[in-house]
Amino acid sequence: MQYSTKVMEHFANPRNVGEIPDADGIGDVGNPICGDIMRMYIKVEDGRIADAKFKTFGCGAAIATSSMATELVKGKTLDEALRITNKAVAEALGGLPPVKMHCSVLAEEALHKAIDDYLKRTTGKGLDLKEHAELVEEHAHDVEHGQEVACEAPGGKDEAGAS
Ligand code: FES
Repeated sequence: MQYSTKVMEHFANPRNVGEIPDADGIGDVGNPICGDIMRMYIKVEDGRIADAKFKTFGCGAAIATSSMATELVKGKTLDEALRITNKAVAEALGGLPPVKMHCSVLAEEALHKAIDDYLKRTTGKGLDLKEHAELVEEHAHDVEHGQEVACEAPGGKDEAGAS
């Protein structure tokens, strides 16, 4: 499987791994296809995402997309952050193999859930979130029929900051 230089770089040196102890929003997601899990933390100041960190127990593509997603959302308003799709994250990484696109959904969904958590805490009303399982299913349909969706290099089953 061919990965871009950027994917390999973010996998080898993921940005923003860890947790924010006084986070304003936390998003937990699991990928029902492979069982990988992710937690994302956000800190919000003046309506913008001042900081974002993540912990992922997942494959290299999931780690690279989480790393890029946290970089992309910093400084963005919540609306701007919600418009960052998994495809945009994958493009910023120079693309992902089709069979690994479902991994990028994890970062998008963890971010949306963290924003949802923040809104519930501050306004009592969250987002109208699509179920993660539905999204993964949509993306799984993008995967060429018959191709196996599995944890493969880089990293196979890797851990970035999971405790
Ligand atoms: Fe599980 Fe990539 S997120 S294989």
